[in-house]
Amino acid sequence: MKAIKLNGSGEPRDVLTLSDIDNLPPPNGSNVVVHIRKRAVHPADYQTARGFLPVDVFAPHGILGNDGVGVVEAIGPDVDPATRISVGTRVIVYHAQGTWAERVAVPASSLMPLPDDIDDAVATQLATNGITAVMLLRAAEEAIEGRKAPLLVTAASSSVSRSVIALARLKGHAVVGLVRRDADAASLAEQFDKVPVIGTDRTHWQEATKVAAGQSPMVAIDAIGGEMMPTLLGLLAPGGTLITYGALDGRPSPIHSGFVTAFELTIRGCSAIGWAMRTPPEQRAADFASLFDLVRRAPHLFAGYSEFKMADVVAAVAAAEASPRRGATILVSP
Ligand SMILES: NC(=O)c1ccc[n+]([C@@H]2O[C@H](COP(=O)([O-])OP(=O)(O)OC[C@H]3O[C@@H](n4cnc5c(N)ncnc54)[C@H](OP(=O)(O)O)[C@@H]3O)[C@@H](O)[C@H]2O)c1
Repeated sequence: MKAIKLNGSGEPRDVLTLSDIDNLPPPNGSNVVVHIRKRAVHPADYQTARGFLPVDVFAPHGILGNDGVGVVEAIGPDVDPATRISVGTRVIVYHAQGTWAERVAVPASSLMPLPDDIDDAVATQLATNGITAVMLLRAAEEAIEGRKAPLLVTAASSSVSRSVIALARLKGHAVVGLVRRDADAASLAEQFDKVPVIGTDRTHWQEATKVAAGQSPMVAIDAIGGEMMPTLLGLLAPGGTLITYGALDGRPSPIHSGFVTAFELTIRGCSAIGWAMRTPPEQRAADFASLFDLVRRAPHLFAGYSEFKMADVVAAVAAAEASPRRGATILVSP
């Protein structure tokens, strides 16, 4: 079968090649084999290819890809019928290794059956990014303990952030989005109901953010890291929480412990891998159900994606990294 192999670390054109690899053996135990039709290109993929993230976590066996959408081809003898997984079931694979291959072997518990009205390209965007959005909003709601308080969301045009914002608005939370260029703010704001979007290249953007929020935010949800983290901590209300889930900046964050202490701030990390490993099955199903509902209510958030053949992986990565962000980039199996 075909797979995109990662050979060392470096620029995608130098290290990613479509190759033939061995077919998978029949699945044993509670494992299944899924024919992956589509998978998203994530920042973690090209950050791993370039050596910024650990290969043994994100591409063991030299193949990237931790999620995808496909059809179950074979099931092991011990798969629990309660999973609703059988041969032919169309599924989201939300926790796997090596989905930049035509087939992957995973435990049945890493799959979510797909409703017929959610197509593959949209489902691909829910696998990790949608779930991350659900998880982040839950963490934010825990931080504000059921109250209504404005949420600040950075990298607001990203796939994850657009779902966070949409889910938060559906639940009645006030949100302020941040993007790195004010010139991109207006077109993003149009996608949402009553969400101010502010560019961090604007003079006095921090003041503008507080004005837009109506008060100092209690929660900031951040994928950037680096210098943005101390800046966000400075914007939070006393007792506020910074939820961090990405490292788009790539540099370490200079955070003053005295500041965190004085204002009793919390910094909390969130990971979709942690969600997959710790969330009970009923909650996982409910979380995906909330995403299917979001797709039905706001399909425009998942439109505008681009699809590439696996053979064109280098072009796909370039599209995924293009700025400003337009929509998901998806690799399609032959
Ligand atoms: N913790 C987890 O489990 C988890 C799960 C999924 C994703 N993530 C992380 O979440 C982040 C977003 O992922 P995604 O797939 O949603 O991204 P995406 O759709 O590919 O979009 C990338 C976004 O990041 C912005 N961006 C890139 N570099 C930036 C920088 N240095 N400063 C400010 N903005 C920057 C881009 O803004 P422009 O439009 O201005 O280019 C764009 O909005 C990534 O860091 C990813 O690794 C974490």
